[in-house]
Amino acid sequence: MALAIMSSGGDAPGMNPAIKKFVDYVYKMGEKPYLIYDGLEGLIDNKIKPVEHRHVAGIMHRGGTIIRSSRSKRFFEYECRQQAYNNLKEHNITGLIVLGGDGSFRAMEKFSSEFDLNFVGIPSTIDNDIYGTEYCLGSDTALNVIRDALDKIRDTATSFNRAFLVEVMGRDCGYLAIVSAMISGAEVCVIPEAEFAYAKEGKRLREEVESGRNYVLAIVAEGSKQTSKVHQWLQETIGLETRVSILGHIQRGGNPTVHDRLMAFDFTITAVNHLLAHKNSNKMVAYQKGEFKLIEIKEVVSGKYQLPQRFLDAVNLLD
Ligand code: F6P
Repeated sequence: MALAIMSSGGDAPGMNPAIKKFVDYVYKMGEKPYLIYDGLEGLIDNKIKPVEHRHVAGIMHRGGTIIRSSRSKRFFEYECRQQAYNNLKEHNITGLIVLGGDGSFRAMEKFSSEFDLNFVGIPSTIDNDIYGTEYCLGSDTALNVIRDALDKIRDTATSFNRAFLVEVMGRDCGYLAIVSAMISGAEVCVIPEAEFAYAKEGKRLREEVESGRNYVLAIVAEGSKQTSKVHQWLQETIGLETRVSILGHIQRGGNPTVHDRLMAFDFTITAVNHLLAHKNSNKMVAYQKGEFKLIEIKEVVSGKYQLPQRFLDAVNLLD
């Protein structure tokens, strides 16, 4: 059998360990591994190549994805999906693994509803926002990058009478923001999933500032779209000179953590085993309650990821 792997959408640390494990494990199982370069764009353009061990040597510790990725607009066109399918057939690919996020899985759900595919998705996004799985590859590394940045910002914050606002990624999801706020001891956290009580929090912070608090650390999720509003609130209502840091794409980089490498191995082995045992499957590997399971890609794209209640509760426990 010939199995292929590709990355799609935003890259995530952990993709390279998954690619390395894929190649090693597919060979171990006596089958032929292929790499698809440049994501769905490369699938359309037939950038499908057989791979040897030497091509993936020394990549375990690297962030990003050595096979690169793309956000493909062309894949919305039927003719391009037909071309992508023809390319897979031309190489006799009997199973396909896609390392990607929500958008990529939507594209794959459409693709697999039109063509005869054997496909498994591995949830890979720093946002950790895919329905059906408690964990997505890359989010632990991103959290460690954010933690490192926040620890440093706190060093300078404690030396001044100032507020520091840090905007973190996550698209529409507040996972990165709330977890970062919890582990850094931030005073304020604003996420899309919960309404921020400006009046109540303002009263609390003003009282704290009056009784001696000299700095505030606020984490704002990009998806809340409230960075400017919180900035203005900290300056004008709380009365603290405020500095803003938008962490941006540094959150997507960095050496995958031990956790992301181990998760990459388990996700990949589960995906390969599933593809080898099936002919026409459209699933995603989900991590649920300590186990790796296969769930229908249809189910994944029809649901919406919800932050666990304990994280939603934590927003109110920061004060
Ligand atoms: O989905 C990962 C992510 O980094 C989001 O957190 C962010 O909103 C988006 O991708 C940024 O996308 P791009 O790299 O295309 O600017």
